[in-house]
Amino acid sequence: MQRQIFVTSALPNANGPIHLGHMLEHIQTDIWVRFLRMQGHSVVYVCADDAHGTATMIKAEQEDVPPTELVDAVRQQHLADFNGFLVEYDNYHSTHSEENRHYSELIFARLNEQGLIFTKNVEQLYDAEKGLFLADRFVIGNCPKCQTEGQYGDNCENCGATYNATELGNPKSIYSGSAPELRASEHYFFDLGQSTDFLRDWTRSGTVQPEIANKLSEWLDDELRPWDISRDAPYFGFTIPGTEDKYFYVWMDAPIGYMASLQNLCDQRDDLNFDTFWAPDSSAEVHHFIGKDIVNFHALFWPAVLSGAGFRTPSRIHTHGFVTVNGTKMSKSRGTFILAKRYLEHLNPEYLRYYYATKLSDSADDLDINLDDFVQRVNADLVGKIINIASRTAGFLVKHFDGELSSDLHDQPLMQQFTDAADRIADHFERGNFGKAMREITALADLANQYVAAHEPWNMIKDPDRKTDVQPVCSQAIQMFRALMIFLKPILPETARRAEEFLAVAPLQWADLKNDLAGHRINPFKPMLQRMEAKQVGQLVDASEPETAQEAKPEVAKADPTISIDDFNKIELRVARVISAEPVEGADKLLCLVLDVGDHQRQVFSGIKAAYSPEDLVGRLTVVVANLAPRKMRFGVSEGMVLAAGPGETDIFLLSPDSGATPGMVVK
Ligand code: MSP
Ligand code: ZN
Repeated sequence: MQRQIFVTSALPNANGPIHLGHMLEHIQTDIWVRFLRMQGHSVVYVCADDAHGTATMIKAEQEDVPPTELVDAVRQQHLADFNGFLVEYDNYHSTHSEENRHYSELIFARLNEQGLIFTKNVEQLYDAEKGLFLADRFVIGNCPKCQTEGQYGDNCENCGATYNATELGNPKSIYSGSAPELRASEHYFFDLGQSTDFLRDWTRSGTVQPEIANKLSEWLDDELRPWDISRDAPYFGFTIPGTEDKYFYVWMDAPIGYMASLQNLCDQRDDLNFDTFWAPDSSAEVHHFIGKDIVNFHALFWPAVLSGAGFRTPSRIHTHGFVTVNGTKMSKSRGTFILAKRYLEHLNPEYLRYYYATKLSDSADDLDINLDDFVQRVNADLVGKIINIASRTAGFLVKHFDGELSSDLHDQPLMQQFTDAADRIADHFERGNFGKAMREITALADLANQYVAAHEPWNMIKDPDRKTDVQPVCSQAIQMFRALMIFLKPILPETARRAEEFLAVAPLQWADLKNDLAGHRINPFKPMLQRMEAKQVGQLVDASEPETAQEAKPEVAKADPTISIDDFNKIELRVARVISAEPVEGADKLLCLVLDVGDHQRQVFSGIKAAYSPEDLVGRLTVVVANLAPRKMRFGVSEGMVLAAGPGETDIFLLSPDSGATPGMVVK
C-alpha cells in the first residue's frame, strides 16, 4: 500500500552557520526519505529557516542590516550547504513568511476559542538603557545560593543551583552592562496543564523512542505548567493579533513553520493538498526529525498545541543525539567545530553521508566522528569492498563480451542471499537503524568479494578450459553489485547515479531486486567514488581552526565589571582627522570615513549616519581606537572605531579634542 508521508528536519536558527552537527539530522532525514521513495511511497520533505527571535534581531543590529535581509542571506547559505550534502527537500521556506503568519494566527485564535490562552503579568528584568526585556541568558550576576560572581540568570556553573534571573545578586545586562530593573508586563500563556492527560497517553503510544518517553515522564508525572508564548517589543517576529507590542515567542511559531513550508509548496503544486496531511482525520503520516535538546518543544508543546487547535498530531518524533568529534564536543580551538561549507571545500559529501549512516540507530545516543575511523571506513569498506566489486569484474565483460551479461545466474543460492536480505535491510532503514542496515550490506559485499576472489576471473581468462566461465562469473558479480547499489542508494545518491549510468539502467528502485539483468548490456566502468586521502581530513581540520573561531558567537564577558590600568593601556587611542565621509550603499546607518591618523590614512565604518551629514564631518578632528583588529564587514574592511557618545540614532555626539590637537596624537 502506498503511504502518504510528510517529513521534516528541525528548522535551523537563522543566526548561525550550518555545521556537521546540523548535517547529521538533515542527512539522517534525507536517507530515510530517499529510502521510502525507493519503496514507492509518496513523501513530502520540507524544512525552513527559523528566522525569529532576539538573537536574530541582535545579530542584524550588529551587522547593521534589516533582520529580513539578514535572514534571506542566511537562508540562501543554509540551503546551499544542505544541497551540497545532497539533501533534497521539496521545499525550504522561512518562518518569516506570510504562510507562517497565517497559521500562527489561526492556531492562536483556535486555542483562544478553546479557552487555552490566558494572560498574566510577569515581572522580568529590563535593560532600560537598551530598551529590552532580558532573557535569562542575557543577565549575569552573583549566584543567590553560593554567591559566585558572573553567573547567568538561569543556573550557577559553580554550585549547579537553578533560579530565576530576578534572584541574582548585583545583576548586569550583557548588552549594556547596566543594572537591569524589574518591570511588569502582560504575557500570553498557553495552558499546557489541560493537556497533561492527553500527553501522558500520546508520549506512550509509540510516537517517541522509549528512552525519550521515560525522560518526558519526569515532567508528565506532575501537572504541566503554563507555557509563556509571548515576548515584548522590540522583538523580531509576528505581533500577536489584537496587540501592538506583543510578539509570538519564537518557539511558538517555529514548529508552525513546518506547516507554512508545506502550504507554500502546495501553492506551487496542483497534486498536493495541505489537508491531506494536517486534517484531524488525516490518514497520512507526519514525521519530525529533531535533536535531543528540543524534545520538549516537539513532544509536549507541539502536540498539545496541535490537538488544542484541531489539527492532527505527529505520527512519530525521531530524536537523535549530538555529534562529537574524536570523543569530545565539537571544539573551535581543536578545529573540530566543522562548518558544512568548510567540509565541502575539502571532502566529498558522500563520505560523511556514508559514515553517519554506519553509526546511526534508532536511539538518541550521541554519535562520534572519529577522524581516523572515518577515513578507514570510507576507504576500506565503501571504496575497497563495495565499489571494487564492479571495478574488478566489469572490464572482462566489456573487453571480451561486448558488455553483455550472461542469461543465467552462475550461483543462484548466493544471489538468493542478496534478495533475501532485502526485507531485513528495508526494515532497518524503516526503523532508522541505518548502522544495522550497513552491517548487513557490508557482510553481503564480503560474500561477493569472496566469490570473485575464489573464481579469479583474471586467471580464468588466461586458461582455455575455464575461459567460458568468465562471463557468468563476472555477470554474477555485476548483479550482486547492483543489489548493493540499490541498498546504498538512499545514502549515496550521486554514486548510485553513476552506477546507474554504468549499468545502463533506469533509476534504481527497491523493487528492482526482484528482477535480474540477464542478457543486459552494461557500459564500460568509470570510477564512481575516489578513495579519501587522510591528508584531506588534516587540511579540513586546519582550515576549521581560524575560520570558525571568527564566526563563533562572541563570548560574553563575565564577572568583574572593572578593568585594570594594564587593560586600559592596551587600548591605543589617537587623534584623527576626517578626510572624507560617504554613505554606504545597502546600510542605512553607516558612514564610510577615511581618517588621517598622522602617519597614514585608514578607512572606518561608523554607525553615525542618522546624526551627521557626511559633508559636516569632513575636516573635523575626532578620536579613534587605532589598534582595534580590522573587521571584515559586508561592505569592506573597517580599520578602527571612532568614539562617540549618546544613545544612538540621531542622538550621537562625536568626540572631538580641543583645537590645537593634531592627527596621530596619542590620547591618554
Ligand atoms: N530553531 C530550532 C529548531 C526549531 S524546529 C521547529 C533549533 N535550531 S538549531 O539550529 O539550534 O538546531 C537545529 C537542529 O540541529 C536541532 O535539532 C539540534 O538538535 C540539531 N543540532 C545542533 N547541534 C547539533 C550537534 N552538535 N549534533 C547533532 N545535532 C545538533 O534548535
Ligand atoms: Zn552557585
